[in-house]
Amino acid sequence: MATHKIAIVKGDGIGVDVVNEGMKVLDALAPKYGITWDYTEFPWSSDYYFKNGRMMPEDSLETLEDFNAVFLGAVGHPDIQDNITLDGLLLPIRRKFDQYICLRPSVLYPGVESPLSGKKPYDIDLTVIRENTEGEYLNIGGFAYHQTPDEVAVQTAIYTKKGCDRAIRYAFDLARERGKKNHVTSITKSNALGYMTIWDRTFEEISEEYPDIDSDSLLIDAACMDLVRRPEMFDVIVAPNLFGDIVTDIGAIITGSMGLASSANINPDTSVPSMFEPTHGSAPDIAGQGIANPMAQILTGAMMLRHLGENEAAADVDAAVLQLLEQGEILTPDLGGSSTTEGVGDAIAALVSK
Ligand code: NAD
Ligand code: IPM
Ligand code: MN
Repeated sequence: MATHKIAIVKGDGIGVDVVNEGMKVLDALAPKYGITWDYTEFPWSSDYYFKNGRMMPEDSLETLEDFNAVFLGAVGHPDIQDNITLDGLLLPIRRKFDQYICLRPSVLYPGVESPLSGKKPYDIDLTVIRENTEGEYLNIGGFAYHQTPDEVAVQTAIYTKKGCDRAIRYAFDLARERGKKNHVTSITKSNALGYMTIWDRTFEEISEEYPDIDSDSLLIDAACMDLVRRPEMFDVIVAPNLFGDIVTDIGAIITGSMGLASSANINPDTSVPSMFEPTHGSAPDIAGQGIANPMAQILTGAMMLRHLGENEAAADVDAAVLQLLEQGEILTPDLGGSSTTEGVGDAIAALVSK
């Protein structure tokens, strides 16, 4: 019997719908595994901003300290500048709790069609470790002569030896644990951006500590090409923050849909909360239509379960999603079906409660 104290932040757009389905599945698992979910829902979102002039209250980061995990949908509204919404809610949580690993698997599941021709199930099976707190995301910068013809914009990227080291090490450990291709690919752009050689050097040093794991280093432009040309070659990818962001959208779409792409922002130190939110955003183009695919959020829930030590429950969720994909009958439109967000959530909840 375990109680897990979870902060729920549904956020904006489809975030609200998919978190509802994610919680439905977590609830369905509870009796079987003796889990008590101690949820607290926070209305932090763009609606909160329209009412209060900020995305979340001033003490919200301290409020989150008491939780085991944050389960978040998505943030972003067409009427608010994205950096206001994201730097007002999502990014401060990643920074405050030093969630330095962003773990993003991309698997071509049976029953799912890749836009790349001739790909069979599991031909694509890679995981990206995205360094999640440094690089271009530290919000160090600003403007001079703001909104005048002489305007200057500056933003500084930060790479620390410690930050590179811990992300790269995590990637090598993961490759070893997966035991699949025993391969780690690093991605930078140090032909043009010399400061990134700190990452390359650290990658080389650490690769020598893992003689059982092969490694190579790609430039981001070539890596994007290879993710389309021959995605089978990848096992674990490790990349700085911004490049990790970009390649995980490619990873999502070559394996069928943004609606399948799960993600976790992890600090391995479990005395602080990690945050579980899918790779996709608030998808204003389909928000309010009840057709968003909740599988990414539900699989993200499985990642949260694993982080909380509920491995069997997590495996149930993965198996239920796989079963639905293989059957091919209850799917949302992004996967060629005509089911609703709720319909898919109901079906997965029913499967996991068996
Ligand atoms: P997006 O991921 O929201 O959408 C990209 C495309 O994928 C859209 O066509 C959308 O309909 C589709 N899609 C996404 N999730 C889907 C799902 N679950 N089911 C079916 N289709 C899905 O990216 P965007 O349009 O660039 O961003 C929209 C907003 O979300 C922006 O404000 C952006 O800043 C924000 N955003 C937030 C997060 C986050 O909170 N973690 C992540 C990415 C983008
Ligand atoms: C993601 C998102 C965020 C990021 C944005 C919304 C700040 O794109 O989680 O992939 O770039 O980290
Ligand atoms: Mn992204």
